[in-house]
Amino acid sequence: MEPLLMFTHKRADFGPDFLFGVAMASHQIEGGQADGRGPSIWDTFANTPGNVRDFANGNIACDHYNRWPEDLDLIRDGGFDAYRFSFSWSRLVPEGVGSINPKGLDFYDRLIDGMLERDIKPLATLYHWDLPSALQDRGGWMNRDTSLAFADYAALVADKFGSRLASIATFNEPWCITVLSHFLGVHAPGYRDVRATARAMHHVLLAHGLGIKAMRSVGTNEQLGIVVNMEKCDPATNSPEDIEAAALGDAIFNQFFLDGVLKGSYPQKVTDILAPHLPENWQDDMPTLNQPLDWVGINFYTRFLYTADPRVPVFPFTQARGPLEKTHVGWEVIPEALTEFLVRVSKRYPGLPIYVTENGASETDEERRIRFFDRHFAAMLEAMKQGVDLRGYMAWTLVDNFEWAEGWMPKFGIVGMDPDTLERQPKSTYYAFQQMLKGQSV
Ligand code: NOJ
Repeated sequence: MEPLLMFTHKRADFGPDFLFGVAMASHQIEGGQADGRGPSIWDTFANTPGNVRDFANGNIACDHYNRWPEDLDLIRDGGFDAYRFSFSWSRLVPEGVGSINPKGLDFYDRLIDGMLERDIKPLATLYHWDLPSALQDRGGWMNRDTSLAFADYAALVADKFGSRLASIATFNEPWCITVLSHFLGVHAPGYRDVRATARAMHHVLLAHGLGIKAMRSVGTNEQLGIVVNMEKCDPATNSPEDIEAAALGDAIFNQFFLDGVLKGSYPQKVTDILAPHLPENWQDDMPTLNQPLDWVGINFYTRFLYTADPRVPVFPFTQARGPLEKTHVGWEVIPEALTEFLVRVSKRYPGLPIYVTENGASETDEERRIRFFDRHFAAMLEAMKQGVDLRGYMAWTLVDNFEWAEGWMPKFGIVGMDPDTLERQPKSTYYAFQQMLKGQSV
């Protein structure tokens, strides 16, 4: 099938070593609640009414647990170099700590070997939100012991799989794990509690530091990093109050997590607010958080406008979408912010290779999706021109999948999938990638 539209960029524009890949995450695609996998917080959250649109859940998801060979074939045939995937912690260690599930090890053995056989680089993530329920029973990320359990899990993965992995990220999007899930209540475990949030924010980053140390001591030499989401925070008006609200939003969203792990400090704007709720003597952990990393990943999608509102407790602002062109789910498209973030990260944390570990659009119109990707390719090339050491780009996502609280409504895939039949159907964007990556572009 011919693409309706092609990208205006060529693979060669990015240089010979630039990696193009796709990204997916365990709970969004695997299903396969079988063979000894323990429950995770997303199993119970999604199977409780009111949390997910249209009562969707990830029980079967894309059945990637069984259909992974077909998905890896699609990645290879699309011309991609890499697949960014995540391990399900509770598939490997059903209770989060303690006994290991041999069938879980077997699954990821097959998956990783399947990638290597197809010449696809495995880029792993340890934690893409599916915390083992047994750890949540003991407080989850509110409990410091979860950070210790994570370090053991990280060492297990490095030991069993590290020599076959190109890279390992500790966490995907700490803001979502903490603020979205413990403050805004939108994702599992669905809390709206400032103390839970502050504790989770610190313990996730502590787990990152302990996990990096544990993996380094295993010594398998894969490249270690972390993936954060960055979202442009603009003031709704030019009033000093709105400008300050946007600056606070930026400090929480775009600075807290990276400064924590790359500078060993938190922005004062945020600690001024959260200090009473952070764990006692949190400052003593900062050197542990601040481990040398080999790379950093940025997930980028959109922006929010900030309006100061002193009635709002904790973080005194409200957020809204602005007037820019929007995707099918209403997210503003603002590719120039990707250039801005890439330049900013490379200046603030010098010497660290950067990957765009996620970017994509929920669209029902392929011309719009292709244009979205193309505009973000231009934004990356601009950043590279400005000297950013950008090494790769992972499109979100291969197959339409379980989009968390939004269920099956969003369509981020470059391959369609009907959750009833589980059949995969490449979209025009898939063919546009194939043409660009296999060097057949005009
Ligand atoms: C970020 C998350 O990492 C991923 O799980 C999600 O599906 C995409 N963004 C799209 O919202």
